[in-house]
Amino acid sequence: MPFLSLLASGLALTSLVSAVSKPFPKFGEKQFSQEFLDGYNLLKQIGSLGPYSNRVSYGVDRNTPAGCEVDQAFMLMRHGERYPDASLGVGYVAALDKMRFSNITSWRGDLAFMNEWTYYVDDEAMYSQESTTGPYAGLLDAFHRGSEYRLRYGHLWDGKSVVPIFSSGYERVIETARYFGQGFFGYNYSTNAAMNIIPEAVTQGADSLTPYCTADTSYVACIYEYLGSTLPPLEVAAARFNTQNPGLNLNASDVSQLMEMASFELNVRAYSPWIDAFTADEWVAYGYTLDLGYYYCFGPGSEYQIATGQVYANATRVLMEAGPEAGSMFWSFAHDANITPVVAALGIDVPEKHLPKDTIPFPNPYRVADIVPMGGLITLERMTCKATAISDAGVFIRAVLNEAVVPFNSCQNGPGYSFPLANYSAIIDALPRFDETCNIPASYPQSLDFFWNYNTSTQYNYQKGPIGYQLTDTDV
Ligand SMILES: *[C@@H]1O[C@H](CO)[C@@H](O)[C@H](O)[C@H]1NC(C)=O
Ligand SMILES: *[C@@H]1O[C@H](CO)[C@@H](O)[C@H](O)[C@H]1NC(C)=O
Ligand SMILES: *[C@@H]1O[C@H](CO)[C@@H](O)[C@H](O)[C@H]1NC(C)=O
Ligand SMILES: *[C@@H]1O[C@H](CO)[C@@H](O)[C@H](O)[C@H]1NC(C)=O
Ligand SMILES: *[C@@H]1O[C@H](CO)[C@@H](O)[C@H](O)[C@H]1NC(C)=O
Ligand SMILES: *[C@@H]1O[C@H](CO)[C@@H](O)[C@H](O)[C@H]1NC(C)=O
Repeated sequence: MPFLSLLASGLALTSLVSAVSKPFPKFGEKQFSQEFLDGYNLLKQIGSLGPYSNRVSYGVDRNTPAGCEVDQAFMLMRHGERYPDASLGVGYVAALDKMRFSNITSWRGDLAFMNEWTYYVDDEAMYSQESTTGPYAGLLDAFHRGSEYRLRYGHLWDGKSVVPIFSSGYERVIETARYFGQGFFGYNYSTNAAMNIIPEAVTQGADSLTPYCTADTSYVACIYEYLGSTLPPLEVAAARFNTQNPGLNLNASDVSQLMEMASFELNVRAYSPWIDAFTADEWVAYGYTLDLGYYYCFGPGSEYQIATGQVYANATRVLMEAGPEAGSMFWSFAHDANITPVVAALGIDVPEKHLPKDTIPFPNPYRVADIVPMGGLITLERMTCKATAISDAGVFIRAVLNEAVVPFNSCQNGPGYSFPLANYSAIIDALPRFDETCNIPASYPQSLDFFWNYNTSTQYNYQKGPIGYQLTDTDV
């Protein structure tokens, strides 16, 4: 560990002293790697579809700054790695069938692996479900995060209270919440965690982890404008495969299906040979179509989405102002498209200009893989800090996105590039309101209530009986 981070993480002084008493190493490993390969990591090119990866950080220490203590933590996490939805699987199987029915007996070139490979969904019941096998398995991710957060935020639990965990009513989201809870509470999960399942129904209005902007009438159609768009050189890949395998007749839309199918493979398996069949540049182009879709449909490119993110952002602000007496931990679970609005509302990764649709900006200011990969999460920390050389004593806020601290450009004068709570409140006050902008019918709840009126029952802590075939929406 580099010396600076040792200091910043507040490691005991004694271990520093003993480290100094030995000579600094002159041979062997470099102190600092000269390789930064984040950009070549495929996980950064498949947006929201692939396994979790930490956000590329600015180097700000993730640990709590000296003199501060986190006294409230708010986490909004996406479900973990998962199988594709059944509706997507239909397209993948059609493209794979087209290959199969070309009657090629020996695959060549970039597709030579097809002589051995089989589709990774061997039980159709698993469509939509969290994955349980492979090194990137979703349930593993959720349990791991819970266990890691217990180390980080365990001091927020008094060791006796029953703590609510909030999940939207969708099978894979609920399972993520349960496994996170078991990681966090360990043997105390069965008695001290209380799963609260908030239905995903539109009629929940603002009292939801998945608020739906009724005014945003193009919401559902929007994403199809971008996914599989022709921006990536898909026909180039198709022509390459077809030339290498005479008789094969793939086209650009087949290739789009296959790239999406490949991205999901890693959620289930350690290795996807499909990833290697495409070039690095093709993945860059493919990933950008995902960025475009999230930006314009679920993110800061849509005023409706910023207003949608206001619901959660405002709720955290009200709780932060009330302080830890109102609750010290708020662990919440929903989907990617429910987190991107919150990130946008907080002003994180909001480019100055709209993303171009006909060319890729380098650097790209809106990278979905850094915002909502599978298992992606945004954590807001309320910290009480003593006076330091750079700031007065007070209450400060930090945003941590996929385990990287994201300072706010408008205010960063607190310890660890945090900023005063008053400024957080001002940022939230300036947002468009969900109830007004989204035209929420008067009969639906106009504000979020479940953070205050939750259930302490443990009745939903475990799945009862088998998970239904391709189960998605559920309130149990
Ligand atoms: C593949 O073989 C089947 C069975 O012989 C035949 O019906 C089909 O037309 C062939 N497909 C192609 C693309 O030649
Ligand atoms: C938490 O679990 C441990 C291990 O089973 C147990 O000793 C302890 O009493 C539990 N705490 C509560 C509050 O149930
Ligand atoms: C590609 O082929 C499939 C059928 O094999 C067809 O449905 C689709 O429209 C074709 N796409 C393009 C862009 O030609
Ligand atoms: C932060 O809050 C203080 C006190 O309310 C205010 O004076 C200052 O202008 C705010 N700064 C920003 C960048 O909002
Ligand atoms: C903020 O949230 C609280 C609690 O849900 C609610 O009472 C209040 O109306 C909300 N304010 C805005 C501006 O949405
Ligand atoms: C709260 O728990 C009670 C039983 O203890 C149950 O009937 C009710 O449906 C639960 N409500 C929610 C929102 O979980």
